[in-house]
Amino acid sequence: MTVTIFEKSVEGRRAFVAPELDVPRDDDALPERFRRAEAPRLPEISEPEIVRHYTQLSTKNFHVDQGFYPLGSCTMKHNPKLHERVAALPGHARLHPLQAPARAQGALQLMWELQVALAEIAGLPHVSLQPSAGSQGELAGVLLTRAFHEAQGKHRHKVLTPDTAHGTNPATVTMGGYEVVKVGTADDGGVDLEDLRAKVDDDVASLMLTNPNTLGVFDRNIEEIATIMHDVGATLYYDGANLNAVMGRARPGDMGFDIVHYNLHKTFTQPHGGGGPGAGPIAVSDRIEPFLPRPQVVRREDGSYGLDFDRPQSIGRLRGFQGNFGVFVRSYAYILSLGADGLAEASDTAVLNANYLMARLRELCGEHLPVAFDRTCMHEFVLTGGPMKKALGIRTLDLAKRLLDHDFHPPTVYFPLLVDEALLIEPTETETRETLDAFAEGVAEILREAAEDPSIARGAPYDTPVRRLDEAGAAKRPVVRQAL
Ligand SMILES: Cc1ncc(COP(=O)(O)O)c(C=O)c1O
Repeated sequence: MTVTIFEKSVEGRRAFVAPELDVPRDDDALPERFRRAEAPRLPEISEPEIVRHYTQLSTKNFHVDQGFYPLGSCTMKHNPKLHERVAALPGHARLHPLQAPARAQGALQLMWELQVALAEIAGLPHVSLQPSAGSQGELAGVLLTRAFHEAQGKHRHKVLTPDTAHGTNPATVTMGGYEVVKVGTADDGGVDLEDLRAKVDDDVASLMLTNPNTLGVFDRNIEEIATIMHDVGATLYYDGANLNAVMGRARPGDMGFDIVHYNLHKTFTQPHGGGGPGAGPIAVSDRIEPFLPRPQVVRREDGSYGLDFDRPQSIGRLRGFQGNFGVFVRSYAYILSLGADGLAEASDTAVLNANYLMARLRELCGEHLPVAFDRTCMHEFVLTGGPMKKALGIRTLDLAKRLLDHDFHPPTVYFPLLVDEALLIEPTETETRETLDAFAEGVAEILREAAEDPSIARGAPYDTPVRRLDEAGAAKRPVVRQAL
């Protein structure tokens, strides 16, 4: 059983001993109101013990360096180790966020060049790196849309989101003070144009869309959708969570989108999934540019780099400092090391891998796990576990848990919501054919086993550090700190 680091604590043990103070002591440097009556209780532990403790903990969780992680919509691609070396360079890792711009020219240049590269990838000319996640990029997009309409003296009240949308889309719309209006999905998996036309009027501020969408389907009507929205003066927002399918091949700006967010931690590689730092920069068209967050990283006429605070129509700051700089460094390294051709090849391979895996699963498991929208997919695809539940008596959740015993991370389950017993599978471009085959065979093996004895999958997992968890309980009644 794992014991906490506090339980391992023994009075007097140390992992680090600070050197003797060699400057004058000033007990009043910290104002009284910030001081505690007693020192906080910290674990006292030796360096080898602390290293072992965290190394052991790190092996208890499933991670992408350990095995296949086809978590749909999350783009769990390999994170090249080169990026870690670059991010760890002292000039990057030790840079203080309050360093004066004149003394942080290299960092500002990196951020400015990243903005230029991202603008080219999106096909939209202006980028802000500030938002710290895709969802914060969405919030920025909704606030920008509001500022854009209000600058024209218009107050609109509704934002449209498709019924396939990720939960953050409607949540963001609500946070931004708009009413959410759902748009239906057509038989081919794209936006239902008739429903869209019926819901669009001049009280609609924007439509938020991801293309390809969360069914893994590219919406072929995207230009018509853009025209419908622009005809009523609304903006078209691109949720870039699925950019990995089209990066280097097609640009949201060319499709008619006005505002785009990128999930740097997905498409442009970062270790993510445990709540670690991310980045959700946004790109916008000329008409939205005046409202971008403040400050903007700029290159001045003399070739130096700086922060521009002089933006009177800006929606303001979205966070402290400029963003998660280490994330910028890794994504910059990724873009430069692959180049334009490499980025396109990454998307091509992501789409090829997804179609290969979809075909293998259709071949081996199609009777019980049919493809929900059976057409050429983009970088991910959705299976429905409805027939499996009926014929074999196991649910998608049971299959997902049993996959852990086969050393695979489960795909995303029960999303998108409109597919019964959904499994959303995104293999990414960095997996080999052998891995994809092994996964398809693993799923087939679980179905065979369930045909003989469904209780095995229902009780899974068996070979993990903890057995089946009460996930609803963990979400609804979280106990996030140890009582001391
Ligand atoms: C389609 C889609 N949109 C938005 C988001 C939100 O992105 P983030 O997790 O970076 O806030 C996600 C995250 O998984 C997503 O899959």
